[in-house]
Formats: sequence, structure tokens, C-alpha cells
Amino acid sequence: MLEDSFGREVTGVRVSLTDRCNFDCVYCHNEGLGDTRGPMEPGDDEMGTDDVVRFLEVAREFDVGKVKFTGGEPMLREDLEEIIRRTPDGMETSLTTNGTFLPGRAEELRKAGLSRVNVSQDALDPKAFAEVTKSGAYDKVLEGVEAALDAGLDPVKLNMVVFEATAGYVPKMVEHVAENDGLQLQLIEYMPELTGNPEWAIDIQRVHDWLEEQADEIEIREMHGRKRYWVGGGMVEIVDPVENPSFCSNCHRVRVTHEGFLKGCLNRNDDLRPMGEMTKPEIRSAFRETVANRVPYYGEYMVRNDDGEWEINDRYIDDQYIDA
Ligand code: GTP
Ligand code: 5AD
Ligand code: SF4
Repeated sequence: MLEDSFGREVTGVRVSLTDRCNFDCVYCHNEGLGDTRGPMEPGDDEMGTDDVVRFLEVAREFDVGKVKFTGGEPMLREDLEEIIRRTPDGMETSLTTNGTFLPGRAEELRKAGLSRVNVSQDALDPKAFAEVTKSGAYDKVLEGVEAALDAGLDPVKLNMVVFEATAGYVPKMVEHVAENDGLQLQLIEYMPELTGNPEWAIDIQRVHDWLEEQADEIEIREMHGRKRYWVGGGMVEIVDPVENPSFCSNCHRVRVTHEGFLKGCLNRNDDLRPMGEMTKPEIRSAFRETVANRVPYYGEYMVRNDDGEWEINDRYIDDQYIDA
């Protein structure tokens, strides 16, 4: 297993399969590539099926045990089932999707070997949902969640970005997962760095405090140091990269952009290493270099100044990269 210079072992990879999407969420960071502002365009720059599989085979050689497929909307890829089928043995597969294509396809994905799915659902309210996603597909998403549960994907996690437009819907969503077996909830702190509108952010500590009062049990998960709360039999996890000091220091994933660039951190695009169409030895060395250059983002690469604002840590301003 590879380890970076901050002692973080790389146990997972997060692979974006496309930057196309049928939604236009107002907060979308496009997997760290930045503000989309407007519907994403069909791209011909995506990695091919063989490129993705070749990369996964190399990652498996380094003992990576998990792959998360993301987008844009990864279900826009018609070869998704094939990619999952060809994922090396011993690698758990999961998918983050907006859910609209799950009806009619969830069963196929499970048969191909998918273990679990995260579905973005920002509010249990069609109007708020439409405002956030710029889509009228609310019912389709609910249907998608049902289809995933029926297909036996376990767990099905609902992803809710908690910000100005959605914060009021948190209690209803917590109740919803408590009442429905198989569902879990991820409450995600809004990350404005790549998308702008910092004024939309709410203090995620308020959500922690509220959950603490409701919870029967609390646990800290190793991945990213995230807090999990059990409320009335439902599980709720808070994903809070910005304010949780142990989030980035417990990050164990390397990322791949839809174009086939490796990157060590979701929030950075200044260290991209190409990989598509490369030979396995070349991918191996790109992977080693990426891991060697990983730096925790919040708290290390970015630090707070005297005014409490995030800025690049002096020590990373000139140089940056240690050669692997
Ligand atoms: P599992 O825990 O495997 O279910 O997945 P996940 O919650 O890590 O992934 P998902 O794709 O559902 O993403 C949920 C939220 O976490 C999104 O807002 C991601 O952008 C965010 N996220 C995931 N990994 C990182 C990370 O390493 N850094 C930051 N800043 N955010 C992340
Ligand atoms: N802040 C927090 N989460 C975001 N996501 C997309 N953009 C942001 C952002 N700016 C989440 C979506 C989706 C996941 C892939 O990333 O809700 O569930
Ligand atoms: Fe972005 Fe995901 Fe929303 Fe599509 S569904 S616009 S990729 S956050």
C-alpha cells in the first residue's frame, strides 16, 4: 500500500467518468474542476473504457481496495456496467449519482458488481429540489432511490448539501432515513472555494449540535474523520471538509478526472498528471508521483490568516512539489 509524506495510506480511488450532467445544481463543484454555471456540455474528452480499466488494474496492484465512480453524472456513460464488470477482483465499487437513471438500470448495475450507491437528494420537497438542481426530476429521483433499494444495493446513501436553500429541510430528511430501512444520510458542508457564493454557507457546527441532541449513538469514522450519528435507527454522517480539522488529514483517496488526469486532492488542479492511453509502467509511476506529492488541503495547504480567512500556507507558495 502506498503512503504519502503525511502518513496517509491510499486505500481508495475516486474516478470521474464524465463531466456531462443532466442537472445544473447551483452549488456544483464539478468534482473539483470548478464552477459549471450552466448545463455541462457533452464532451469527447472522456477516458475510454480500456483506459479506466487499465488504471484500476494498476491501483489494485498498489492494494487499493475501493473505487468510487462519479461525474458529472456517471450514469450518462453507457459503458458503466462494463467498467464495473471489469473492475479487478477485491475492489469494492460504489457510485455517486443524481439518481435519475437508476429506474430500470439499478438491477443491471448490481448484477455487474456494484455494491452501493450515493444519490444526491438535497431536499424532500419538489420546489426546493427544483431550485437547487434546476431540474424537474424530483419524482424520478425518488423512484431511483426505490429502484436502488429494490435491487439490493446496500446501503443507499442520500447526499444532501446543507446550505442556505436546504438547511431548513434537515430534520425532515433525518426523519426520512430513520423511517426507511436501507437508507443512510450524508449531510455535506457546502464548499464555496471552487464555485463562489460563500454567503450561502451555513455554520455546519449548528447541524452537529442539533444532531448531538437527537442522537442515540455517535461514532467517528476513520475515512476523513467524519462524525456519524444514529438517530431513531437511522444513520446520519456529516461530511465537513472545511471545518473539521481531521477531515483532510484522514483523506485516503486519489482522484482521477474524466479526462484521465491523476490528482492528489479534490480541491487542487495544479498537480494534474496525465494517464489516459499510457502504458501500465507509466501509470504506475504517475500514481507513485501523485501519492508522493499529496498534501492535506484544509489545515495544511490552506491555513487561516489572522482575519480567519483561508489562504495558501507560505511554505507552499513558491515551490510546491517534491519530486517522487
Ligand atoms: P462514501 O463515504 O464512500 O459513501 O463516499 P463519499 O461521501 O466520500 O462520496 P460522495 O461522492 O457521496 O461525496 C459526498 C461529498 O463529499 C461531496 O460533496 C464530495 O465532494 C465530498 N468529498 C468526498 N471526498 C472528498 C475529499 O477528499 N475532499 C473534499 N473536500 N470533499 C470530499
Ligand atoms: N459543496 C459540497 N458538495 C458538493 N457537491 C457538489 N458540489 C458541491 C459543493 N460545492 C456534492 C453533490 C454530490 C457530490 C458528488 O458532490 O451533492 O452529491
Ligand atoms: Fe453537479 Fe452532481 Fe448536480 Fe450534476 S447532479 S450538477 S454533477 S452536483
